[in-house]
Amino acid sequence: MPESATAQDAKLAINGGTPVCRKPIPFMAPKLHPEDIAAAHAVLESGMLRAHTNCAELERQFADKTDAKFGLTCSNGTCALQLAYEGLLERGDEVIVPAWTYIATASMLVARGCKVIFCDSLEDTMQVDPADIEQRLTPNTKAIAVTHLYGMPVDIDAIQTIAEKHNLKVIYDCAQSHLATYKGKGIGAFGDACTYSFYATKNLGTGEGGLVTVNDESLNHEIGLIRSHGESDKYLHTRIGYNYRMNDITGAIGLSRLQRLEEETNARRAAADAYDKLFAEVEAVETPTRTEGADAAWHLYSLKLNLDTVSCTRDEFTKALIAEGVPCAVHYPKSLTDQPAFADVVTDHPPVARRLATRVFSIPMHHELTDEQVRNVVDAVAKVASAYAK
Ligand SMILES: Cc1ncc(COP(=O)(O)O)c(C=O)c1O
Repeated sequence: MPESATAQDAKLAINGGTPVCRKPIPFMAPKLHPEDIAAAHAVLESGMLRAHTNCAELERQFADKTDAKFGLTCSNGTCALQLAYEGLLERGDEVIVPAWTYIATASMLVARGCKVIFCDSLEDTMQVDPADIEQRLTPNTKAIAVTHLYGMPVDIDAIQTIAEKHNLKVIYDCAQSHLATYKGKGIGAFGDACTYSFYATKNLGTGEGGLVTVNDESLNHEIGLIRSHGESDKYLHTRIGYNYRMNDITGAIGLSRLQRLEEETNARRAAADAYDKLFAEVEAVETPTRTEGADAAWHLYSLKLNLDTVSCTRDEFTKALIAEGVPCAVHYPKSLTDQPAFADVVTDHPPVARRLATRVFSIPMHHELTDEQVRNVVDAVAKVASAYAK
């Protein structure tokens, strides 16, 4: 006989019961290793703090590992988007962007002076819906800007086919998808530009930091100019630009961490496989469906709560889960079309994005997760689901 919801409820940690995990499981594992600290130290001792050999080597190796031709380090992932947008788009260009992503993918288009057209995502993969992009094309559409959200590549073939058919630029926001692959190739092989964030908690974190990859030599040159005040020669400024440069301490940390990134990404993949398998038994949640041909980087592992199986909201569910020792977070609590910042540019509310905002929550995902921790997370989710079962 299954226990009644009330009996389970009384046992929930949130009601004074015993938590599944007595010691909370870390949500992320952003620790530096001694070699990262030594690399930063060496730069400090050299006195060469500006972008120098470490940034240059990080650019070369990161581009190489993602199957891109050129890499450009920069201050952060938001600057990376700005650099790509400024290098590829003009003011007034109409650009299609998913409503289901982090704000920067869309807000930097607005900052560039582009007209933003929000499109929807697929409920299973939570990635952009190519069919909805096609429906929103107009004769003025100039580009598509999409995110490989949570580290899962979008259906790149479908996006590139639309782009080729309609002569559109494609910018991939890869802030969450370092080293993800699509049909056996690094994601840097596709589109006009890929942008990365090295924010402290990203798969490769340097505190703040970012990088753009491109495959076109003249675009690489142009973005290099935009990154540094359009300076083509000492104090010769051939265009307006910014100071979006990285410094060499950041470059050294990034380069050092990059040496472990493949191994750490594979550990995330193993944890995602284990979650997928164990959660198959838990009816109250849906695991992220994988894009065909994609090997994700699993920056986040985001579940969808089946709201018709439980008598609580997503927020009540995650509160109970946190009390069980499982930290969780919501990526994201709103569709971008519901963000006040976009009130002036929103024309409609893509429905899947709005629904996802009520259902998703992310559970611990990092390269140090043990089998036991994965099992405990699943047990805690199952316990909370059972307590709230309808
Ligand atoms: C999808 C996405 N794009 C862009 C950014 C912006 O990166 P940064 O915080 O380094 O500026 C982030 C950071 O969270 C992100 O997740």
